Amino acid sequence: MSVLNAQEIEAIHQAITEYKPGYGLPRPFYHDEIIYKADLEAIWSQGWLFAGHSCQVPNPGDFFTIDVDEDSVIIVRGDDQVIRAFHNVCRHRGSLVCTKSEGQIKRFVCPYHQWTYGRDGKLLVWRGMQDNLEKSGLGLHPVHTQELEGLIFISLAENPLDFEAARQVIAPFARPQGFQQARVAKIMDFDIEANWKLVWENNRECYHCNVNHPQYIKANFDHYNSDDTIGRIALQLEQVTTRSEAKWAELGLAVTHKKTGMTPFPDPDQNIWYSANRTPLVDGYLSETMTGRQVAPLMGDYPDADVGTLRIRMLPNFWNHSSCDHGVSVRLTPAGKYLTKARMIWVVDEKAQEGKDYSLDELLPFWLLTAEQDWEICRNAQKGVNSRAYTPGPLSIIKEYNVDSYLRWYVQELSRKI
Ligand code: FES
Ligand SMILES: [Fe+2]
Repeated sequence: MSVLNAQEIEAIHQAITEYKPGYGLPRPFYHDEIIYKADLEAIWSQGWLFAGHSCQVPNPGDFFTIDVDEDSVIIVRGDDQVIRAFHNVCRHRGSLVCTKSEGQIKRFVCPYHQWTYGRDGKLLVWRGMQDNLEKSGLGLHPVHTQELEGLIFISLAENPLDFEAARQVIAPFARPQGFQQARVAKIMDFDIEANWKLVWENNRECYHCNVNHPQYIKANFDHYNSDDTIGRIALQLEQVTTRSEAKWAELGLAVTHKKTGMTPFPDPDQNIWYSANRTPLVDGYLSETMTGRQVAPLMGDYPDADVGTLRIRMLPNFWNHSSCDHGVSVRLTPAGKYLTKARMIWVVDEKAQEGKDYSLDELLPFWLLTAEQDWEICRNAQKGVNSRAYTPGPLSIIKEYNVDSYLRWYVQELSRKI
């Protein structure tokens, strides 16, 4: 791998040999700069990354930027309505072309010497350059882009992974949610002072939920596992699942995850880095809100509010939790070995008006609280694993099977690509 020298590659392989499946990662994986560099090369510049919702750029010229460590990328809707992505790097002497994080433009004008690019990335104007130079090959470097039911993904890879398998799995789940006819209700950005892998590890288990997420556990069944699914809970789940299955089959919505515990994801053996599923909520919860009540108009194709919760995830940087009336996307980006940026995007139906059809006071708290509780857990985890006393402990096969799968996926990707 070009950015790492032979000694660094050797050190990474040494760290990999110290990893034991069924346990957490050894300290260097959270702590060493070279492993962070390797993560950027093997994972972040290879995989498909969620950038944002198409409804963030509803009109031609609408744009936003995303930073993946040191790579800045512009996402912009063209005059032909196609959403494209470009490296935010001037083809003259490399300055950032776009210094705003979002907005509306006719043309991108580099602030340095004013080379000017169109919404399609083409170089249009360069003043003061000699006549015998050719502009045509000097457009902004394109970044691979995929739009999936109103979700925008980019890949920094020269030859990205096949996206179609992910599309086929996710599209039937995402379509009825109506992300294509949505609008942004709120975007919030967070700094999580923790390595990105700790954020995923925390996302992949609900062992921590009972104590840390009092609001979440009231609405969901996935924090129960075989050790604590008592008879009353099993019965409730069975009743609500049977009811939902019958109803959802009628509505043509994709089938449910029927057991307690989190849906298995990812699957390193099958190389599965994407998944989606629909699960019932606890009786009385029509939406993942503090009261369980629907708080905004129905989204997409939903004929009524009783559609449970939709979950979509893609490694290495995306998960979405959606209810009948709103969806919440989380986008992670690495910003250093101890720093992960998280963006949360709440969307509602495009016709919903704030203050009339919904209020942020009712829409935000459920997932905002849950996220803030999680970010704090991750910060504490980072501080702990930084200690020289840290050694990886055993994972629960009852409650942390997805952490184990995730870590095996991660180590496999790293071993394959370095
Ligand atoms: S660096 Fe952009 S115009 Fe010179
Ligand atoms: Fe959590």
